[in-house]
Amino acid sequence: MNSTTHLPISTFNVYNSVTHDCLATLTNVTEKDIEAMISAAVIRYHIPSTGQERQQMLVALHEQLTEYRYELATIISKESGKTLSDALAEIDYANQYLAWFAPLAESMDEPIEVADKIEVWREPVGVVGAITPWNFPCAMIIRKLAAAIAAGCPFVVKPSELTPLTALKIKMYTETAGWDKGWFAVLVSNQNAAVGQRLTTDPRIAKFTFTGSTRVGKLLNAQCATSLKRVSLELGGNAPMLVLADADIELAVTQCVANKQRGTGQTCVAVNRIYVAAAVADAFTQALVEKVNALTKGDPLHPDTQVGHMITLDAANKTHNRVQQAIAQGAKVLCGGTYQAGSSYYPHTVLSHVQHDDDVVCDEIFGPLYPIITIDDAGLTNDAVIQRMLKCANDTQAGLAAYVFSRDKNVILQSQRQLQYGMVGCNTAVLGNAAAPFGGIKQSGFGREGGRLGLDDFTHLKYIKPNA
Ligand code: SIN
Repeated sequence: MNSTTHLPISTFNVYNSVTHDCLATLTNVTEKDIEAMISAAVIRYHIPSTGQERQQMLVALHEQLTEYRYELATIISKESGKTLSDALAEIDYANQYLAWFAPLAESMDEPIEVADKIEVWREPVGVVGAITPWNFPCAMIIRKLAAAIAAGCPFVVKPSELTPLTALKIKMYTETAGWDKGWFAVLVSNQNAAVGQRLTTDPRIAKFTFTGSTRVGKLLNAQCATSLKRVSLELGGNAPMLVLADADIELAVTQCVANKQRGTGQTCVAVNRIYVAAAVADAFTQALVEKVNALTKGDPLHPDTQVGHMITLDAANKTHNRVQQAIAQGAKVLCGGTYQAGSSYYPHTVLSHVQHDDDVVCDEIFGPLYPIITIDDAGLTNDAVIQRMLKCANDTQAGLAAYVFSRDKNVILQSQRQLQYGMVGCNTAVLGNAAAPFGGIKQSGFGREGGRLGLDDFTHLKYIKPNA
């Protein structure tokens, strides 16, 4: 038992992001609850299970998410402010990971290598502790959970205190799907530091995984070091989008807006700064403003609404302050930019005349802003323009996602090699795919979620030398 945490009995409210009505009052987990959940996970870890059994668990949860898709999407939309269609897309995204990892569970029942009288086996690393964010209340839990269960690791998660109702529903679906309780526990709490401390320092938790800010990720990583846990961190981004003079402008604009519609720009892979070659800057900007203006606004729960709300009033207010700061630094607002105090709605806002070293470019925006930086290409070769853009793109401590738009295969090839990011979208700005290893480099963290190697972070290797 960890004596440093202090978690007395208390409650907290969960609010509707749009109406600000109280959706529920929940009781914070106590030290005793956490102890019971971790102990149950440890017991579960030591009970042998086959890959086939765990595959069936993932398939059964997939069925639940499919059957209750609208019920869950409505909860996600209310808690997070995202549109119903965005919430439905999030559930489909989560389900991709369940479908992806289900067959991989069986691969745990075989050695991964047999060579020259040796065998190499993957083994489940142990109980996994996780902290997940509010921007994907369902998909960020499921992406980690699916890999953990496929590997054979019981999973203890603390969801964001802003969106715990989705997590509790997922827990309920696992029970309906017949999962043994020890496989999955949800720690509901708004005592973030104390619960975080508990999950990162309990020696029975073998692996810790976090999606959230770089600042918090560094603190949690330091705490994990005391018991040498396996750690994976998916942290903040500052995604550049490069639009070359030969780019398909309509495609670039469509992709850019689709990227920012996800979670109303509140994602780690959101386009944060748009570098456009001067030759196409006017055409791109005009098309972007038209596209943004054409988005359907309204109640996020209405199926036709295309623009979500932000997670809190504070988030909307901060976004407005960023716009004011950008204006003070010389930016021009081409659409949006107006804010009604007391609302969590902030309009998609296109900013031109932005410079590479403005605050709105250097900081992670986490909101529906589109800062356009025009790259002067007069008298420059195509190669010199792309080098200038790549230099700007890499001029950050973040390294999660980057996007490049050009019709020239060589430019695409050169960009994908030189961009210092874990993920590069070439003529696309929507990356999510269960077959892909999602994750960053530099201060965007380490570890990968999804893909063929997605079990790596939840397993260790054992080399066996059979008796000759
Ligand atoms: C994130 O914002 O943390 C995840 C985004 C994604 O999976 O696309």
